Amino acid sequence: MDKLMIQGGLPLEGTVQISGAKNSAVALIPAAILADSTVTIDNVPTISDVELLAELLREIGGDVELDNDEHEIQINPEKMFAMPLPNGRVKKLRASYYLMGAMLGKFKKAVIGLPGGCNLGPRPIDQHIKGFEALGAKVTNEQGAIYLRADELVGAKIYLDVVSVGATINIMLAAVKAKGQTIIENAAKEPEIIDVATLLTNMGARIKGAGTNVIRIDGVESLHGCRHSIIPDRIEAGTYMILAAAIGQRVVVDNIIPYHVESLIAKLREMNVKVDVRDDQVEICGIGEKTGVDIKTLVYPGFPTDLQQPFTSLLTQAEGTSLVTDTIYNARFKHIDELRRMGANVKVEGRSALINGKTMLQGAKVKASDLRAGAALVIAGLMADGITELTGLEHVDRGYEDLEEKLLGLGAKIWREEMTNEEMDQVKN
Ligand code: EPU
Repeated sequence: MDKLMIQGGLPLEGTVQISGAKNSAVALIPAAILADSTVTIDNVPTISDVELLAELLREIGGDVELDNDEHEIQINPEKMFAMPLPNGRVKKLRASYYLMGAMLGKFKKAVIGLPGGCNLGPRPIDQHIKGFEALGAKVTNEQGAIYLRADELVGAKIYLDVVSVGATINIMLAAVKAKGQTIIENAAKEPEIIDVATLLTNMGARIKGAGTNVIRIDGVESLHGCRHSIIPDRIEAGTYMILAAAIGQRVVVDNIIPYHVESLIAKLREMNVKVDVRDDQVEICGIGEKTGVDIKTLVYPGFPTDLQQPFTSLLTQAEGTSLVTDTIYNARFKHIDELRRMGANVKVEGRSALINGKTMLQGAKVKASDLRAGAALVIAGLMADGITELTGLEHVDRGYEDLEEKLLGLGAKIWREEMTNEEMDQVKN
């Protein structure tokens, strides 16, 4: 087990290339199950969630080649079968729930252990199940695994009680080969949903309305292989934009779709950060006084909950009081105790955090409790005086490709060190 050592206080400058979107990749890979010939996906990020999914598809008989140098995955689903996956790797990532929709859509049956992933408070999947049942599946929960079975899947009208990215995608996966038309109302509109619909359409599916709150799917008999390129990761882009605003002199965040990060650009400008938007990049200059702002996380195109934690770190460097409210998850504040350990003045009450700035942060020993908490602490470490030691890197590695290399390219001083046995015992407790 390694820890990340971060020497704070060095100004960052240069260009950082953004990888393919994690939250697309983890849905596109299971979607390939539905095809009857090889699906090739490129711009695949080199992150542990992708490796886990590749292994899961191999477990169910898929011929999967993951080429990290080329950022490409080739998935041949011809020999796949409805192998039950009640335990093991499925528990390690949240997105394993997409195996439910994809395997149900393809084999009319699946057994999938309840998913793991970041602990952000309760993360029910009732809307996914409601969708599968509406399509005609019988769904039971037996000893921590979801059993799905259908004689046939028939299109239906499904109104989501909660706007859910996962449920929207999972229902699309289960519905593309169902008989007749499925309509998903109150669907989520995130760019990753459009990306999945684009892949499915290239495979021969008939989907209209992805990216709006009503998606119509006309079921087809079969789906074929194709090639698809993943959209840029708007959350990785946002993370680098935030750290550029915090400590960047002139940082270009390249290979992005600026439209996908508009809510963040608006907030950075409100704080007096200079943001120059170009076709597929933004340039950020973090020099100068920053003013505190309030943010409220909302479904897309609102301010993304996945950037709330990194943004909180930035707000410790803004003058005045800032209020951060997370309306999506009620326990996404586990990074705050660690920020306090570094000297931040932050109070949490319910779903909100009140930040009083500006406070000089001091390097400290801190632990990432989840993926974006890790990103928040890396940013805090880069801003702090002295050295920060970050543990819990398994979370960060789930979602950020080549984090150290990208930061080193911007002039940061950051490196991994092996933890001693004593340190590992401390971290576990
Ligand atoms: N919800 C329900 N019932 C459901 C599904 C969701 O009540 O059946 C609630 C959740 O508890 C949450 C809200 O609805 O309060 C939104 O959840 P959603 O289903 O949209 O989240 P998700 O699909 O599980 C994805 C991303 C998350 C991101 C959220 C919100 C993936 C694999 N994960 O999760 O990403 O925070 O959408 O945008 O796509 C991350 O990347 O760090 C991450 C956690």
